[in-house]
Amino acid sequence: MATKKREPRSKFYELLQQQVQTEFHASQQYVAVAVWFDNEDLPQLAKLFYGQAVEERNHALAIVQYMMDTDHHVDIPPIGEVRNEFAEPTELIELALEQEKGVSVDIKELAKAARAEDDYQGAQFMQWFLKEQVEEVSQMSTLLNVMRRANGNLFDVENYLARESLAKDRDDAMPPVAGGAL
Ligand SMILES: [Fe+2]
Ligand SMILES: [Fe+2]
Repeated sequence: MATKKREPRSKFYELLQQQVQTEFHASQQYVAVAVWFDNEDLPQLAKLFYGQAVEERNHALAIVQYMMDTDHHVDIPPIGEVRNEFAEPTELIELALEQEKGVSVDIKELAKAARAEDDYQGAQFMQWFLKEQVEEVSQMSTLLNVMRRANGNLFDVENYLARESLAKDRDDAMPPVAGGAL
């Protein structure tokens, strides 16, 4: 078996390894959000977040695939803390929006590190994620606006989601995902 590069890693590969954890954590957090909505009998909100959880898992495994393709060792990390307690529905969407904004900052750092290290392939790999984050932040901020406008009437939010599906279309430009995208 070929020995994979373990140490020392470039900054870009250190950040990629961290991002695997961040994306898996985002996935698990969205499962918690989906289950919270499911428990409250809000199926459209639940469905949206069950779907987001799968997307985040795909992001993690796209990074894993890229690390394997470029002959780097990759660890599958533990996930970390997941928040399950919320006082009211808007809090979950605020959390989701903050999470997406945080990931956008990470992805920019990754793109910056790849450039700084003259890793052109790495910089190119990050392009899809940069675009994806614009969509994810916009999706969550739209949902937060809808939620605030509904002013506690969650049936309005459910109707809106049933009508306007915020889910994204399948994206053929997405980088390959280890084991195949779900
Ligand atoms: Fe993601
Ligand atoms: Fe995301």
